[in-house]
Amino acid sequence: MAVGGGIGAGNGKQYEGRVTPFVIVACLVAATGGLIFGYDIGISGGVTSMDEFLEKFFPTVYAKQKNATGHESQYCKFENHMLTLFTSSLYLAALIASFFASATTRKFGRKISMTIGGVVFLIGAILNGAAVNVAMLIIGRILLGVGIGYANQSVPVYLSEMAPPKLRGALNIGFQMATTIGIFAANLVNYGTAQMKENGWRVSLALAAAPALIMTIGAIFLPDTPNSLIERGLKDQAKEMLQKIRGTQNVHDEFSDLVDASAVSQQVRHPWKTILEPKYRPQLVITCLIPLFQQLTGINVIMFYAPVLFKTLGFADDASLMSAVVTGLVNVFATVVSILVVDRFGRRVLFLEGGIQMLACQIGVGVLIASVFGVSGNGTFSKGLGNLALALICIYVAAFAWSWGPLGWLVPSEIHPMEIRSAGQSINVSVNMFFTFVIGQLFLSMLCHMKFGLFFFFGGWVLLMTAFVYFFVPETRNVPIEEMNRVWKAHWFWGKYIPDDAVGLSHKSSDHDA
Ligand code: BGC
Repeated sequence: MAVGGGIGAGNGKQYEGRVTPFVIVACLVAATGGLIFGYDIGISGGVTSMDEFLEKFFPTVYAKQKNATGHESQYCKFENHMLTLFTSSLYLAALIASFFASATTRKFGRKISMTIGGVVFLIGAILNGAAVNVAMLIIGRILLGVGIGYANQSVPVYLSEMAPPKLRGALNIGFQMATTIGIFAANLVNYGTAQMKENGWRVSLALAAAPALIMTIGAIFLPDTPNSLIERGLKDQAKEMLQKIRGTQNVHDEFSDLVDASAVSQQVRHPWKTILEPKYRPQLVITCLIPLFQQLTGINVIMFYAPVLFKTLGFADDASLMSAVVTGLVNVFATVVSILVVDRFGRRVLFLEGGIQMLACQIGVGVLIASVFGVSGNGTFSKGLGNLALALICIYVAAFAWSWGPLGWLVPSEIHPMEIRSAGQSINVSVNMFFTFVIGQLFLSMLCHMKFGLFFFFGGWVLLMTAFVYFFVPETRNVPIEEMNRVWKAHWFWGKYIPDDAVGLSHKSSDHDA
């Protein structure tokens, strides 16, 4: 049984064209959209562990921490719902915004959505930097969330549409690369501002304006994708753009396929209803499960709470922030690995290897914490064991960074046909944001109640998702984006959902007036 199914390297349809500097620059600029997402993920954990911030906005948490007798369980010392709400409110806003972004992206183009995302995020950053009360903080966070909803809905789609098939993985991962750079930059900023006597938190929050500016200005100068231009009836412009990004006059085949895909897309008035039809079942299921699984790897426990986690493991304040910087750096470098191999070895190899590596580390960390804190939560990590925990966490982060991190955004953005692409991407963003919210909100309580078992809990999910990929996620490397139905049709399980005419589509196309 060929569980991977689909069309392997070399069997995919090849269009004429080369990788032009123009397309690379456009993709790099678009990918900066990931910066705002990453900056935000990285900044909250550090800010919420700063005394001045807690004292000003969350005095009860501050008092609880200061009055800690040292006798309570290590697992529970940071549990507080208002504080987690600060971190996670953003993701609820992003979830809702992604649905509005879907309509914008489809009707007005990918570029407009990116610009809106940048501007709204910028306003949020200003409000947060100027915050004098919790209300300003939360409203600012909500605006940041709206910006992220728009950016994450449009950027991955933009990248997947612009890229030539054989480089689609690498260019799309530019988004995740920017995300990890954003997280790392935020970790560094936190490390610096934590040393400030006053207003360190303010500087951390206000600096979010920097990535927002980069993205907004970038988006203003970006061209729109040929797919989106055709979708909006601008065929001539689309053809010119395609010639420009592929570096050849002969774009007939690809252009015809885009026009065909768009013709199908035009007949669809209600993408949300359409995506529920049986012939889109593989895309719908995968687009719901991939972001869910991505969050259930437990990665954001590290990204949001690394300083808190390391404090729990007995590191001093400074060392905790520094450890967050170390994991941030590992995250960036390991993402490069996936850029280099994703179009050569494919998505499945990365998913499967990354899954096994993460599972091994989760078991290791769980056993380590169990052996030191036990169930009571009393105990202290020796320096050596603390470092071992840090090393295991770094290996885990590396695995995520070359597998579920980038692929969680790449795969959903490349599997949908044009008529449901925007809707599909909104589902991806909203499921991702919802579970980011849930984990952000529940982690500290989960740690308090499940104790070391938490690491086994996430490990169990990693096992399940790895098996899921093995059986149900076909290889999409090298397959032109508007030809993806052939992959589903060839799959041992999903094949039955795809009608024959959906696959024959591209072969009827040659008589289009390109
Ligand atoms: C995920 C984020 C995560 C980040 C870590 C992204 O792909 O969506 O939730 O924090 O990777 O690098």
